[in-house]
Amino acid sequence: MSRIENSILGLLVFASVSCGGPDLPKSVEMAYEKLPEKLDFNLHVKPILSDKCFICHGPDKAKVKAGLQLHLPELAYSELKDNPGKYAVKPGNLSKSETVSRILSDDLELVMPKPESHLTLTDYEKAMLVRWIDEGAEYKDHWAFLPPENIEPPLTPLIILFWQSWKKKDSTLLQKPTKKSCCED
Ligand code: HEC
Repeated sequence: MSRIENSILGLLVFASVSCGGPDLPKSVEMAYEKLPEKLDFNLHVKPILSDKCFICHGPDKAKVKAGLQLHLPELAYSELKDNPGKYAVKPGNLSKSETVSRILSDDLELVMPKPESHLTLTDYEKAMLVRWIDEGAEYKDHWAFLPPENIEPPLTPLIILFWQSWKKKDSTLLQKPTKKSCCED
């Protein structure tokens, strides 16, 4: 490899490592390495949000703090009510996502979840949320609302319908063709 190619490669490696936004604390960086290859919102991210954030930033409007709700993408991605121009979650942009600086903060005034909630995030959970935002903060509907991947024909109701009409037909056929049944409605 030529020197030029070498330095371009060096630059690329440098850029890809250094544009990830805020530096991760060492312990979170180590946890990051242990994350699953592919993140799934329902499996990996939602349980963290719902256990550690939703009491104050979830669907229950009466309990919402700072006007911030994180259970729907359109709410999580919108401008912060108390901090215009800032965002809780900016998909793919760690340095513009307040969530990232809040969950990584050592400052007891800033860190999320609020210390008085006695909830804390493990390094693994912090790494998970950071990577989720970095990868585009995709929300997915609960699996129960997603269309099944292999749609089975609704066989049972069809069979019942068929059987019922067949039985009906059959019983009319069995009736003696009296004048009454044949010609009157
Ligand atoms: C016990 C309640 C509580 C929990 C749990 C909690 N927060 Fe908060 N959060 C607050 C309060 C109160 C504020 C407003 C005061 C402040 O900015 O510190 C806030 C503010 C924020 C802000 C900044 C909002 C703004 O307008 O600047 C973000 C982002 C945030 N929380 C994210 C999270 C995330 C992510 C979690 C879960 C990991 C979480 N919070 C868990 C109470 C909570």
